[in-house]
Amino acid sequence: MSDRLYIFDTTLRDGEQSPGATMNQNEKIRLARELENLGVDIMEAGFPAASQGDFEAVRKIAQTVKHTQVAGLCRAMAADIDRCWDAIKDAKHPRIHTFLATSPVHMEYKLRKTPEQVLEMTDAAVRHAAKYTSNIEFSAEDASRSDWDFLAKVAETAINAGATTINIPDTVGYAQPQEFGDMVRHVIEHTSNSHKAIFSVHCHNDLGLGVANTLAAINAGARQAEVTISGIGERAGNAALEELIMALRTRGDYYGIETNVKSEQLFPTCRLLSMIIGQPIPANKAIVGANAFAHESGIHQDGMLKNRETYEIMTPESVGREKTDLILGKHSGRNAIKGKTTELGYPLEDNELQIVFEAVKRLADKKEKVYDADIEAIILEEVYRIPD
Ligand code: KIV
Ligand code: ZN
Repeated sequence: MSDRLYIFDTTLRDGEQSPGATMNQNEKIRLARELENLGVDIMEAGFPAASQGDFEAVRKIAQTVKHTQVAGLCRAMAADIDRCWDAIKDAKHPRIHTFLATSPVHMEYKLRKTPEQVLEMTDAAVRHAAKYTSNIEFSAEDASRSDWDFLAKVAETAINAGATTINIPDTVGYAQPQEFGDMVRHVIEHTSNSHKAIFSVHCHNDLGLGVANTLAAINAGARQAEVTISGIGERAGNAALEELIMALRTRGDYYGIETNVKSEQLFPTCRLLSMIIGQPIPANKAIVGANAFAHESGIHQDGMLKNRETYEIMTPESVGREKTDLILGKHSGRNAIKGKTTELGYPLEDNELQIVFEAVKRLADKKEKVYDADIEAIILEEVYRIPD
């Protein structure tokens, strides 16, 4: 099995379904350029049949993007597929992504179709898409709550009709890592023509397991992962691209999987998205949050100053951030304070350092963070005693 994982970014489609994350056309194009720069293999630009605005944004993105594949989403019905193709046909590498639900609850209550009818609709939709392109992805919506053998039948039908990617979504974020991995393996093994397609997963984060489930599926043979920047998406969001990439990179020894993503672009891309949608990145967000490379505890700071590997499993530079942040506060030790004063350009004697150390502790009892400006003020007032 290949060790190359294709990254399918759906920030512009599923991500935009996140409440409050609506983007206008220019913002979408700016983000699309950034995604291309980041190195994703496929970007899902939108759902052309959803609205005229979505159609036009997808078309513009398809015309703008140079190398990355551009996918449009459509329901498994001819009119949607036609509209999708109209929007993406100018792309260098267009992809039709069509979907149909396969779980009992969706088939019975939402679609009001029998499993046999769903198989027929799958076949008809993919054959219709195949009139336009050979780059076709089929998604079995709510796959994680579907019967595993039925899923394999659906996958087989879609591949026979011309699908080249089969996506297994955990639409409602219900799956558990071990179980999801077993399911993906079962579907691949029981799809007789599975060698003709790439299997993909698309994991939602309702139980906070989006990335864990994606990793389990990769171990089971999935070779495309559908993700979003900063994990934005419907409800609690999707698996976060930056977390998946850094898990694969930091634990390359365990996964042995390559992607095309430039990890140094992760932070700038998350920042751009945050600016566009007007939503700050939470401080404790893995990889890109303000605290992700900040060390508060004195013991940790001391360890970091002796060897970064004591408390850092990846460098801030590797994700495009400037540097590790040793937050000076009530937990900081003398070594961290010495490091900071030296960094600020004040080489202090031991007795001077003691004065600063005690002043920092007093200040830290009154405010949460001690900033560089506070340290400078302490040095000037308490060590050098420079009057106003
Ligand atoms: O969550 C989901 O099932 C989807 C599909 C349309 C792929 O977003
Ligand atoms: Zn989704």
